[in-house]
Amino acid sequence: MTHNTRRDFLKQAALGTAAILAYPHARILGANDRIRVGMIGVGNRGQDLLEEVKAVPNVELVAMADVYSRRRDEAKKMAPGMQTFDDHRRLLDMKDVDAVIVASPLHTHARHFLDTLAAGKDLYAEKTMTWSIPEAEQCLAAANSSGRIVQIGLQWQSSGALADARKWIQDGMVGKVTQVESWMSRNTPHGKGQWVRAIPSDCTAQNVNWSAFLNGRSDRPFDPYRLINWRLFWEFSGGNVTENMVHQIAWIMTALDLPLPTAAYMSGGIFSEKDGREVPDTIAVTLDFPKDIVVTWQSTFSNSHYGLGEHILGSDGTIEHGWGESDMENGESGERIRYYPEKVNRPRTASVTGKTADHDHMVNWIDCVRSRKAPNAPAELGYRSAIASHMANLAYRRKQRITLEEAKSIKPVF
Ligand SMILES: NC(=O)c1ccc[n+]([C@@H]2O[C@H](COP(=O)([O-])OP(=O)(O)OC[C@H]3O[C@@H](n4cnc5c(N)ncnc54)[C@H](O)[C@@H]3O)[C@@H](O)[C@H]2O)c1
Repeated sequence: MTHNTRRDFLKQAALGTAAILAYPHARILGANDRIRVGMIGVGNRGQDLLEEVKAVPNVELVAMADVYSRRRDEAKKMAPGMQTFDDHRRLLDMKDVDAVIVASPLHTHARHFLDTLAAGKDLYAEKTMTWSIPEAEQCLAAANSSGRIVQIGLQWQSSGALADARKWIQDGMVGKVTQVESWMSRNTPHGKGQWVRAIPSDCTAQNVNWSAFLNGRSDRPFDPYRLINWRLFWEFSGGNVTENMVHQIAWIMTALDLPLPTAAYMSGGIFSEKDGREVPDTIAVTLDFPKDIVVTWQSTFSNSHYGLGEHILGSDGTIEHGWGESDMENGESGERIRYYPEKVNRPRTASVTGKTADHDHMVNWIDCVRSRKAPNAPAELGYRSAIASHMANLAYRRKQRITLEEAKSIKPVF
């Protein structure tokens, strides 16, 4: 055992002991033990994750909590043995749940994150880690002191393309990186706004635990539109920055080992469909980082031609990563990553296409629940990517450039 791994081992063992003292019900899991999973929020994404975790060997789906009866019925059809609750605290009281997947709306993430760790369970928490900066601080502190395994639903952290990009950068093939351009674009038929979902006829006050959904937001009569379309409103959402920029900024942060941004600016507006939404559909973000790097992210909901991607621009080379872009020559639109040398500094280097295979992000979490190793998207990355996202939104809402210190001092308003 090298000095480092021995130190890591001792640290892990200490954390494990602390966790067992703090959570007497937490099981010590062996490599062959069945992991008993619970889920909080089993809507659109939650049902995808349910299928993913169901496919992992030696995992049992024990229970789920969702405020809406329709989602409980749907989940029960997918995993008939599950117990169902309309209040997540009942699920967390169960002694035979080892680990919990949270896929609830953004404004409830911090509550579900903190309650899950306080109950001594391991956690897979959908991105963005939290709705606000103070919540991100609280959740990171809780994760660090919990001894629990926390994976954030930033699944690109398990991608082969990210491993390729990191290797090219670490091998010096890209040289000094001063700028990263990134973008994400979608389109919808005329008159239909991106993300707008129809309200099912059974979405009534009788079938929904409305106060649990509101989670401290101002009390009001049942509003099915806000329950189903929470993404469109600031009190529940962070718009496309917390829906999609967060994935890409986390990818860029990991590729280049970036710390928190020093400042953010964001312009844009509701330009595509003026359908009553509050969050912008057209966005241009600038993030300043230490180490002389500026990162831009641009997004539109009225044109999907360029899909999404990142260009990492260095003195010795360029990394081009794209997904869903319509290729002019062959029409292909899958994911691809390529390296191109800068001929002025690397005249004899050839271009390279990345070929590393993806890892399954859910499998990585379950493996770590057994091994107690750090997963691919730990809370610390959830924190950094959440802070960058919230800095951008604060800049947009205040119509001014926001520094990290300013962002941390602003009290969030619902
Ligand atoms: N990683 C990814 O690629 C990815 C993709 C899509 C969505 N997401 C994330 O997943 C989360 C959910 O998004 P979605 O599209 O599934 O939303 P959704 O509205 O379809 O699902 C949310 C579910 O949570 C339930 N819910 C609401 N409040 C609750 C509460 N207090 N307790 C328990 N359940 C509650 C709702 O009834 C609903 O079934 C979001 O954070 C979103 O950003 C991640």
